[in-house]
Amino acid sequence: MTEPNFETLWGAIPYPAFAIDADNTLLTCNGAAEFFSGTSVRQMSGKNLLTFVGEGSVVQNVVEQARRDAVSVVLHGIEVSWADSTPRQNDVHATSILNGQVLLLLHPRGLAEKMDRSLTHRSAARSVEGMAAMLAHEIRNPLAGINGAAQLLAMSVNEDDQELTELIQDEIRRIGRLVDRVEQFGDLRLAPRVAVNIHDILNRAKRAAEVGFAEHVRFSEEFDPSLPPVSADPDQLSQVFQNLLKNAAEATPKVGGSITVKTAFRSGVRLQMPGQQPESLPLEVTITDNGVGIPEELINDIFDPFVSSKAAGSGLGLSLVSKIIADHGGVIECNSEPGKTKFKVLLPIWRKPLTES
Ligand SMILES: Nc1ncnc2c1ncn2[C@@H]1O[C@H](COP(=O)(O)OP(=O)(O)O)[C@@H](O)[C@H]1O
Ligand SMILES: [Mg+2]
Repeated sequence: MTEPNFETLWGAIPYPAFAIDADNTLLTCNGAAEFFSGTSVRQMSGKNLLTFVGEGSVVQNVVEQARRDAVSVVLHGIEVSWADSTPRQNDVHATSILNGQVLLLLHPRGLAEKMDRSLTHRSAARSVEGMAAMLAHEIRNPLAGINGAAQLLAMSVNEDDQELTELIQDEIRRIGRLVDRVEQFGDLRLAPRVAVNIHDILNRAKRAAEVGFAEHVRFSEEFDPSLPPVSADPDQLSQVFQNLLKNAAEATPKVGGSITVKTAFRSGVRLQMPGQQPESLPLEVTITDNGVGIPEELINDIFDPFVSSKAAGSGLGLSLVSKIIADHGGVIECNSEPGKTKFKVLLPIWRKPLTES
């Protein structure tokens, strides 16, 4: 039997962990802490804890209390802001080790609670499915009309506009497939997963937005081109990002609206569902807009069906988004303040099925 070495154990702690010296200098931190803080261990070590958490902060108090009394101190549900990052709720643990040194552990509360909520949304979304089946039936007829018109248009427009008619037809086909699935199964989960390039999906969603509801918006992109494929149903995933872009566009001002779509690889993010293997969710897509922000009284309910602040809103967009993301084994999070609303989607990488050679 070989015992794991210190480095392995330290790296395996799934929560941000920092070792702090008697004078509050940061000695080292684990991988989760690097991810949490967006700062590498090299940049961090040797610096004073207070440069990151702020003079007089709760974290400082907890660390110093643990050191002074040589005990372990826990505070629950503390807003921790690291450097300039948005404050996030954490349980803060500080344990005195030796010679005034302290082990600081942060336990982010957001994810577990959001997971919990996203599971509830899944069942909430189910109750919508009966209605979806009825709608599917009603969608077929107008869709056939639109398709016919698009085909006629495609024959007469010039080459520049061909791209647009193709887009219309692509989207019509997508709606058609969606309607098929809803009718056949009454459930979206049965669609097969394939390897999907997330940038193709995002480009398509963006293009559809630019010629439609988001004409007034300036888009910027920060894509990580080395991103591996995601395991997904491409139609469903398109739907997710179109819904998110639509909400973002609807929230932005008519003049000066902007949306940033960013992709990144985050190796440290893992998610454990009750009774399942931990799954790593390294693919991150964030959609940030400079709109009004989510009304505070809605923020905890936006993923529930029929929750909407819009006069003609259905309140179904985000409920479907959260259901599809959950069905893909992913997570969606949201942070909002006036002028900056961010939806972050975390997804698993595509893996070759074992049956395929
Ligand atoms: N990017 C955003 N900025 C501001 N508010 C948002 C944003 N995305 C969603 N919301 C809020 O969440 C609510 C629910 O969104 P959604 O489920 O898509 O329904 P709908 O768009 O039909 O209202 C919206 O009505 C809005 O209040
Ligand atoms: Mg919407």
